[in-house]
Amino acid sequence: MRKGLIQATDSFERIVHWCLAASCLVLCFSGLGIMFHSLNFLGEPFGGLKSLKYIHNFTALFFILSLVAAVRMWWKEAGIFVFPEDLDWIKSAGGYLWHVDKVPEVGKYNPGQKMFFLVVALGGAAMVFSGLIMLFPLSMPAMLVRLMYLLHAAGFVAIFAFFFIHLYLGTVGSPGSLPAMMTGWVTRAWLKKQHPKWLHEMEEKGTLVVYGEEKSSPHGHGH
Ligand code: HEM
Repeated sequence: MRKGLIQATDSFERIVHWCLAASCLVLCFSGLGIMFHSLNFLGEPFGGLKSLKYIHNFTALFFILSLVAAVRMWWKEAGIFVFPEDLDWIKSAGGYLWHVDKVPEVGKYNPGQKMFFLVVALGGAAMVFSGLIMLFPLSMPAMLVRLMYLLHAAGFVAIFAFFFIHLYLGTVGSPGSLPAMMTGWVTRAWLKKQHPKWLHEMEEKGTLVVYGEEKSSPHGHGH
């Protein structure tokens, strides 16, 4: 580990992230394998379509637990839009789509990240709700159960589409981001670019954890 790196996430945060990511992706791909004849082969390595369904339903339990943990952990910082700063950021598209002299400073997560979080949180809840009714229709009206199939498919499209944007921005699209979820240690330059307000806050509160240094003192800058 290089001296001067800053801790952006703790191990709990990373474990929750990867449990959520892994269960979500297993659900996406096993769901695709169940849905489309042309993709039924995805079940072959596991013993066929029936096993794929078991994997899908069992992984859903794992997803529910991860989702609850993720929502509790990120709700405050990624689930609530703050005005006017978030609107200003949206108006400039965060500087991602055209040249912007100065990207408006926002909270820990930017509105794009908040949108992804909300799609996962609300879309995930809709997937759990519709999935449970699909699995246990009990004596509900057939029309209602059919609607759940539609909701399940729509939720999938939203989450899967956003996932590719997230995958791109979490890796090559925004260099330096991946370590935040791998080791938890990031560079000051990345924090300054990606989470400037959060960096200031940590510096002011003295909660900044710098590798190879004592914890910084409140109001100081740790040097
Ligand atoms: C498999 C590839 C994935 C990679 C490489 C990846 C990478 C990352 C990184 C680097 C961050 C930190 C971003 C930052 O602090 O600025 C992050 C945050 C996050 N990830 Fe992932 N992730 C992946 C999959 C997923 C999946 C499948 C989900 C959802 C089910 C997910 C949900 C989240 C959420 C909710 C956050 C926090 C807020 C946000 O960035 O929207 N990730 N991810």
